[in-house]
Amino acid sequence: MSGHEHRGRTFTYRLGSSQNSTKKLSPSSPPKSSMAVELRSNLSWTMLRKKKSIASIHYSFRLDLFLLLFLLSIPRSISELNTMQGFCAVASDSDCSSSFTKILIKGGTVVNAHHKEVADVYIEDGIIVSVRPNIKVGDEVKIVDATGKYVMPGGIDPHTHLEMEFMGTVMIDDFFTGQAAALAGGTTMHIDFIIPVNGSLSAGFDSYIKKAKNAVMDYGFHMAITKWDEEVAKDMELMVKENGINSFKFFMAYKGALMVNDELLMQGLVKCKSLGALAMVHAENGDAIAEGQKRMIDLGITGPEGHSLSRPPVLEGEATARAIRLASFVNTPLYVVHVMSIDAMEEIAVARKAGQRVIGEPVVSGLVLDESWLWDPDFTTAAKYVMSPPIRKAEHGKALQAALTTGTLQPFCDQKLSEFGQRHSPFSQQILNIFSVLLVGTDHCAWNSTQKALGIDDFRKIPNGVNGIEERMHLVWDTMVESGKISVTDYVRITSTECARIFNIYPRKGAILEGSDADIIILNPNATFKITAASHHSRSDTNVFEGMTGKGKVEVTISGGRVVWENNKLNIMPGSGRYIRMPPYGYLFDGIDKADAAYLASLHAPVHRTKAAA
Ligand code: URP
Ligand code: ZN
Ligand code: ZN
Repeated sequence: MSGHEHRGRTFTYRLGSSQNSTKKLSPSSPPKSSMAVELRSNLSWTMLRKKKSIASIHYSFRLDLFLLLFLLSIPRSISELNTMQGFCAVASDSDCSSSFTKILIKGGTVVNAHHKEVADVYIEDGIIVSVRPNIKVGDEVKIVDATGKYVMPGGIDPHTHLEMEFMGTVMIDDFFTGQAAALAGGTTMHIDFIIPVNGSLSAGFDSYIKKAKNAVMDYGFHMAITKWDEEVAKDMELMVKENGINSFKFFMAYKGALMVNDELLMQGLVKCKSLGALAMVHAENGDAIAEGQKRMIDLGITGPEGHSLSRPPVLEGEATARAIRLASFVNTPLYVVHVMSIDAMEEIAVARKAGQRVIGEPVVSGLVLDESWLWDPDFTTAAKYVMSPPIRKAEHGKALQAALTTGTLQPFCDQKLSEFGQRHSPFSQQILNIFSVLLVGTDHCAWNSTQKALGIDDFRKIPNGVNGIEERMHLVWDTMVESGKISVTDYVRITSTECARIFNIYPRKGAILEGSDADIIILNPNATFKITAASHHSRSDTNVFEGMTGKGKVEVTISGGRVVWENNKLNIMPGSGRYIRMPPYGYLFDGIDKADAAYLASLHAPVHRTKAAA
């Protein structure tokens, strides 16, 4: 049901932080005064359809009691709650800040990946109309003062999993809560992975379109390929030509579930190339991991640390190298998702240095966390860090941060390079002086502690995945810009622009240019952020970045031309998010045909031989 179909209905409810518990609404919560959906925190989510209908109800214990009774009377599952989402009647509610269709952002430093300047940004009906100094406007325009702050394209997260069914359970964030979290953290678009239903791409697509009905911001889809037959091959074509999908993911891990073998991967690479679609890989050796898991269980290692020990970096490096070589053999571009180790990163760097079109995507958990958490004596704490590939030793994260910079080698990389140089001489001294990774994602795949406890006796059953959709923009700013590793223009490139370029939606997304979508953030470099599960917007009751603080805070998020995050409040409309179609043949395909022609010419074959006389 879209937001529109909810008109005339009033819903007031709270969502809990987990499927199994509902957090208490604080009696001291301030009054809700608009029809907008306001999410002050995940402690109290109240949807109000008509201002009139709540005029006499102020925040008090009376409302709390009312909410409690109402909650008891409503179904509790996520899908049931989803069908009850309210909406903000933008056109008719003057209290709803979303109602402004004209916005002027004044006096900020406007940052694009290629340039920054002090300028105003004028927005009308969801589109950026003008970017220049001293724009004058009338009274009907909402003015947002950005003096002393950065005005940047909203983040684009290339890698998320919302409401995904995986490892016998369903990921805790759906398109409403996951996107609410994204907007609060300055991300205005994400690309989620469709998992086929019983191998069927069409059924998978239909199911994800339904899952996304309460979307509050723009989103696109990648599609996983989990089996191979004629129907899958035909459906890949349909997805690209009619459904706006331009990338397909192949899992080289998760044996017995999502994993594909090399034969399928090869067929998939060939098909991707023929469609101008980008092949993506989860690069870990699934067969070797199964052996590693057995080894741990035989050693009596059943806790979360067994997850890390059973799938070491070498298995990520091996699969990355294999995928890169197969993509080279087919001559098609490759995108390696969630690069977590130096081993994988170096394979990508070598291939890029040799001219191969390979993109490596680190994720924020891999950049800023380390594996020591998996050895925590408390199971709940340790289990929340279980993801695949695993979070590695700190040196891997540091090396990935270095690879995101514009070529300044970090001390660790220098040391690594000397070993590396022996293997790859003579060009290896330069190897990390090129961008081996170009963008940062999250792999947001959040579970609550009850779900993680499915693996209390066996790490193989702990649902894999961590949060990040709300935290990425802040943590990347603090780790990379505040620390002086990259410039503010680089920040825009790695959090937004490069993703838009790779997935062929630039400059509609990923830029503050006339004609671009008005997806914009205002970041105050002098303000601080603090991450905690008590105030985040994900439904999960835990956060892998718990307690982290830093400088640089997203104070305003504008999505589709509406102010959706301001004064630490969300103002969002279920059903307002749009599905963004992504056309094939992005820039990574430029010149592939010429390289193919050169290859054919180089074969000097078939050789035309005259048959010897009998
Ligand atoms: O642990 C992870 N990464 N969970 C999400 C599924 C995937 O592999 O991307
Ligand atoms: Zn994966
Ligand atoms: Zn993932």
